[in-house]
Amino acid sequence: MSTADAPITIAIPKGRVLEQLVPRLESAGLDTGPLTKKSRKLIRSLPPFDHPGGTHPGARFLLLKPDDVPTYVEYGTADIGVVGRDVLLEREYDLYAPLDLGIGKCQLAVAAMKGATYPPPTSGLLRVATKFSRVATRHFAQRGIPAEVLYVQGSVELAPLTGLSDVIVDIVETGETLRQNGLEVVEHVAEVSSVVVANRVGLKLRRALIAPILDALDGES
Ligand code: PRP
Repeated sequence: MSTADAPITIAIPKGRVLEQLVPRLESAGLDTGPLTKKSRKLIRSLPPFDHPGGTHPGARFLLLKPDDVPTYVEYGTADIGVVGRDVLLEREYDLYAPLDLGIGKCQLAVAAMKGATYPPPTSGLLRVATKFSRVATRHFAQRGIPAEVLYVQGSVELAPLTGLSDVIVDIVETGETLRQNGLEVVEHVAEVSSVVVANRVGLKLRRALIAPILDALDGES
């Protein structure tokens, strides 16, 4: 856990949400210059800066795979982080999740080959390929559809195309990946957007440093 005057550590997801996140961090008074600089460095530091609460001891951005953000925050390596609700739906974390940023909007959905009957009329197991095994297992249990869930890590759309699965459960944003691969959404599972999460203990101990940043991010949503 960081000491009282240590820079605030912010876990940042690499990838498509970063572009939408940068202006939000800027509006919250954080200089994102070090974050957007082209570099392979995984820690980007921000020197001390002035903030409504006084002089801030600076910040460190940790550049992470989106799925890893909650782990860094839960264990206190980062004070706060930005993560998609899809990640929080898939695994349980002990985190304070005070605010939805309203960015990174997409949905988790069931998709099948265009024109396929869903749910299939047969009484057998529905084969589902997904990176979101727990979300999918829960969803089909709630729908009363017997399902066999296969874990795949990426290029999920390939599974029904090649006959590995009947359907997928995956993130759909523009729908372009589905369209180009001859698939369509057959059922909505959950709305997804990016939320700010905070380490519970860190927030208590370093509230004066962390809360103004959370408030500033909140003011922007
Ligand atoms: C996600 C998701 C889909 C795609 C959907 O993958 O798994 O493949 O985005 O976006 P669209 O509806 O706008 O086409 P991502 O590009 O994040 O990479 P991944 O497969 O490595 O998770």
